Amino acid sequence: MRRLRRAGIRELVAETRLSVKDMIMPVFVDERIDKPIPIASMPGQMRQSLNTIAEEAEGIEELGIPALILFGLPAKKDEMGSSAYARDGVIQKAVRRIKEATDLVVITDLCLCEYTSHGHCGLVRGEEILNDETLPILGRIAVSQAEAGADIVAPSGMMDHMVEAIRSSLDDAGYRDVAIMSYAAKYASAFYGPFREAAESGFAFGDRKSYQMDPPNANEALREVKLDIDEGADIVMVKPAMPYLDILRMVKDRFGMPTAAYQVSGEYSMIMAASERGWLDKDGAMLEALTSIKRAGADMIITYYAKEFAARSG
Ligand code: PBG
Repeated sequence: MRRLRRAGIRELVAETRLSVKDMIMPVFVDERIDKPIPIASMPGQMRQSLNTIAEEAEGIEELGIPALILFGLPAKKDEMGSSAYARDGVIQKAVRRIKEATDLVVITDLCLCEYTSHGHCGLVRGEEILNDETLPILGRIAVSQAEAGADIVAPSGMMDHMVEAIRSSLDDAGYRDVAIMSYAAKYASAFYGPFREAAESGFAFGDRKSYQMDPPNANEALREVKLDIDEGADIVMVKPAMPYLDILRMVKDRFGMPTAAYQVSGEYSMIMAASERGWLDKDGAMLEALTSIKRAGADMIITYYAKEFAARSG
């Protein structure tokens, strides 16, 4: 077996290859700032301002990365998350600026949690997270993001029937070509910790366990994914990535759909923190993690490491 492990030959027989073309860069845009500020919990990541977002996107495009996914931090939050669908909301403005400046594929995270005062992904009554009452709002957000120029909307709130509500709202408004990347199997994970600081999307009460999936469950992930495909999802996502490689493989094998994996904030920051202490080799660990995600069946990977990967490989 060792004959093929020599330098040079090893590359020839590699079964999995990472490409910058697989990668999607997450970008945070904050309406309240006028220059980028670093995100302490995610070394190397910044919150962009509306002034700097076009330039940031141009840099991403120059690196050869095909797509970005946008997260917004609005100036004001309310019970209904109304700035999520405002015509001049932070995401809507950012999308317009990016589309004017680049040919990047623009994906918009579609959720209420960054826009609601209580921080949950749905409307609430008392401490209950409402499902069906939330759906029309998700449809409205989708239409406003499509109107701004989003190519793909990515619902991440794990409300039942969110894909159907979004697909029919988009179609009714004439946005038949806007695709849906559904966060189909999204787990209630401890690995989102650093993101909650990045996007200020912590919640006022409770947790997300009544809508995000329970980590022990795999068959349920297949039911979640099937539901989203039946309702019109074009791309399905498994999130987080590395703790759920088994789910990724099952989803890819079962459905053969374009499948995305999200290497989430905790997966990123864990490697960054260990490498700051000299305990892990940062690039080695990142490349191994990303390779494992692709090997498990991901066609595309949302990763905070996309820019660094591209800079190294280009
Ligand atoms: C919003 C959303 C979250 C992430 C992406 N979209 C946070 C959450 O669900 O709590 C997490 C991304 C990351 O950790 O990198 N629904």
